[in-house]
Amino acid sequence: MGYGGRPDRDGRVTLDACIMDEFSNIGSVACLEHIKHPISVARMVMEKTPHVMLVGEGALQFAIAQGFKKENLLVEASEKEWKEWLKTSEYLPKANIENHDTIGMIALDAHGNLSGACTTSGMAFKMHGRVGDSPIIGAGLYVDNEIGAATATGHGEEVIRITGCHLVVELMRQGKSPQKACEEAVMRIVKLTKNRGKNLKDIQVGFIALNKKGEYGSYCVQGGFNYAVHDATGNKLIDANYFLK
Ligand code: GLY
Repeated sequence: MGYGGRPDRDGRVTLDACIMDEFSNIGSVACLEHIKHPISVARMVMEKTPHVMLVGEGALQFAIAQGFKKENLLVEASEKEWKEWLKTSEYLPKANIENHDTIGMIALDAHGNLSGACTTSGMAFKMHGRVGDSPIIGAGLYVDNEIGAATATGHGEEVIRITGCHLVVELMRQGKSPQKACEEAVMRIVKLTKNRGKNLKDIQVGFIALNKKGEYGSYCVQGGFNYAVHDATGNKLIDANYFLK
């Protein structure tokens, strides 16, 4: 998500995105400003550079060189919210308060190939320079064309801590269904949160997963997340199951 995303604490909209295809080609951008569709820049990193990740000013220079338009992404509503936030400047990421806008997509195409993408403006009012899980291959997204694909949403710090989506795919490799794999990854976050003496109520993470057979599943720390499924039977919006009841 670019346009309309919430800014960081300095009022700057900084975007993270990554993409992974069936050949394990990968591309990623982090802390990218002024470009409406960061995922398209991530795709250019994948297709046109010898690298896998560009950040900040370098990512912006690359995007402009590729013909992307530099735009102001801070819409009036987000600017208003940021100015309101500045009155207290209290940074407390809360579960399910709409403080991030991650979009993750995983797909199985007609040839049976898996791919995925993930994009976000990150946590609202984050420190400038903060990068979450969404542009990190293995954390916010992972695809193994022999096994399955997974993507994540929620508090990126917690997803990175367990290399979440790589874990979900590896659990599917061990024979777990997409649903069970998501549940086990969430349970690892639950355990680590407790071990670290933190309050689980303050944390939200959700995973979705899809395997080579087209089976899918999802699980979250808390309620409040849903995901969309599109297949030959049409479109469904499903409320994700969760741990903290
Ligand atoms: N999951 C998005 C982020 O933490 O930035």
